[in-house]
Amino acid sequence: MSAGTVTIAPLRREDVPRCAQIEQQLFPGDDPWSENAFRSELDNGNFYVGAYVDGVLIGYAGLGLTDFESSVHTIAVVTAHQGGGVGKTLLRALLAKADEAGLPVFLEVRTDNVPAINLYLAHGFEHLGLRRRYYQPSGADAYTMGRPANRD
Ligand SMILES: CC(C)(COP(=O)(O)OP(=O)(O)OC[C@H]1O[C@@H](n2cnc3c(N)ncnc32)[C@H](O)[C@@H]1OP(=O)(O)O)[C@@H](O)C(=O)NCCC(=O)NCCS
Repeated sequence: MSAGTVTIAPLRREDVPRCAQIEQQLFPGDDPWSENAFRSELDNGNFYVGAYVDGVLIGYAGLGLTDFESSVHTIAVVTAHQGGGVGKTLLRALLAKADEAGLPVFLEVRTDNVPAINLYLAHGFEHLGLRRRYYQPSGADAYTMGRPANRD
C-alpha cells in the first residue's frame, strides 16, 4: 500500500468520474458501473463513503437501505492501496450505518474473490447461497452472504 493518511468521508458528486475510472480498472469483465450508475446511486439516497489520500479518491463503498434490510452495493480500493486496511475501514463505515439502523446486511461476491470473501467472513458475514452466472458478461458465479442485524 502507498504511504499517506487515509480519510473516510461521504462520497462527493465530483468523485463520480473517478469512481467510474476505478470500476473500469477493477471490474473489467463484469459490466463496470458508468458515471450515470454512480450518480443514480447517490441520487437514490444510498449511503456512500469515499477513502481519500491527500484529497485523492482511492476507494469507495456503498450501502443500500430499506426499512427491512441493507445491502452492500459496491466496495473497491485502487490496486496500489489494496492490502493496507482501507477496504476494512470502508466496510466498517457501512456496517456502522447498518447497525445504527438495526438492519441485517446482505451482499453478493464472486466465488473466486478470496480477498473480499475473507474480508466479509472477518466481519460477521456467513455464506447464504450461490447464484450461478450472476456476473455478466463474465458468467462468474456469486455467493450470497449475510450478516444479522446488530440490535445492541
Ligand atoms: C476486496 C477489497 C475491497 C479489500 O480491500 P483492501 O483494502 O485490499 O483490504 P484490507 O487491506 O482492508 O484487508 C481486509 C481483510 O480482507 C482480507 N484480505 C485482503 N486482501 C487479501 C488477500 N490478498 N488475500 C486474502 N485475504 C485478503 C483479509 O481478511 C484482510 O484482513 P487482515 O488484514 O486482518 O488479514 C479490495 O481488495 C478490492 O477493491 N478488490 C477489488 C474490488 C472487489 O473485489 N470488491 C469487492 C466486490 S464484492
